[in-house]
Amino acid sequence: AKYLFRLPQAYNFADYIWPGLLMSPQRILAIRDIEFQPSDIIIASYPKSGTTWVSELVSAIVHNGDTEAIKAKRQHERVPWLELNTDYAWVKLYDFWQSAQKALGYSPTVKEEDEKKSKPVARVWFTHLPLELLPKSALEGGCRIIYVSRNPKDNAVSFFHFHQMARFLGQQTTTWEEFFPLYASGDIYCGSWFEHVLSYWTFSRVNKHVLFLKYEDMKKDLSREVSNICDFIDFDLDNEARKRVIHHCTFDTMKNNRMANREGVWLFNQARSKFMRKGVVGDWKNYFTVGQSEIFDQLYSYKMKGSNLDYEFDP
Ligand code: A3P
Repeated sequence: AKYLFRLPQAYNFADYIWPGLLMSPQRILAIRDIEFQPSDIIIASYPKSGTTWVSELVSAIVHNGDTEAIKAKRQHERVPWLELNTDYAWVKLYDFWQSAQKALGYSPTVKEEDEKKSKPVARVWFTHLPLELLPKSALEGGCRIIYVSRNPKDNAVSFFHFHQMARFLGQQTTTWEEFFPLYASGDIYCGSWFEHVLSYWTFSRVNKHVLFLKYEDMKKDLSREVSNICDFIDFDLDNEARKRVIHHCTFDTMKNNRMANREGVWLFNQARSKFMRKGVVGDWKNYFTVGQSEIFDQLYSYKMKGSNLDYEFDP
């Protein structure tokens, strides 16, 4: 939990401030007692594992494949960040900025009739909280949890680029050589990938209200994963709706969809690195040196031993 609020020495002063503004211990305590409804869905992940992808998929599914309707609303309005500290003044300022943009016609318009059309059958949130900090009702099965994970080498590379563009992480100029040991040791925002993933994995083995997904499976067969999600949330999509959902959630469609690719979200400086950056399996090979790869493989075998969980690292 400390990694939500404390960042390593290598980071600059701003990094101690921003995460604290986004997520405060008070906010986490406040959400601890939320009573969820059985139809509610929480998408959980370690950052850069495909959270936005699964959020768009689930959002499209619970809107019964009405992809036109969901294009009328930004993703974070359809799938809010559970632990985001909505009380802070800057969030209100941001809301004000959004409505001003809308009024001036700079923001894609949300027509009232479009908004009315988009009635989801379930409420959806996303979170990066470690398992232990989830609201009690979510832990006890009061709602459904979909956890998405990704092989940690690609995850590390994606996270590296994210550090360059996330204003709340200080838009790092850290090099890959500097970033790698921070990631491997878990001395980083959200802590160790291994701890995060393994705790949800273990939990998902014994709790039917948790679905554990892998990015690589989604890349391989998105249609199968859509069925997987639909079965899990007990929702029927007809063939046409399913086709629309899948088309709407391909990398290229999402890259060009401002409502899904977080364009205009001030927290991210997409001039430095795009949120929808590459969207592939195996990009790690362009970053890891042979030595880094060997060290990481050893760490991976040690940490994952006995977990019965493994990832594909090649496309
Ligand atoms: P890359 O940086 O490797 O491109 P998150 O949403 O958890 O922050 O994860 C972001 C990562 O998911 C980015 O990875 C992004 O490109 C990738 N992603 C988002 N939508 C995707 C899609 N439809 N298909 C494949 N990858 C996607």
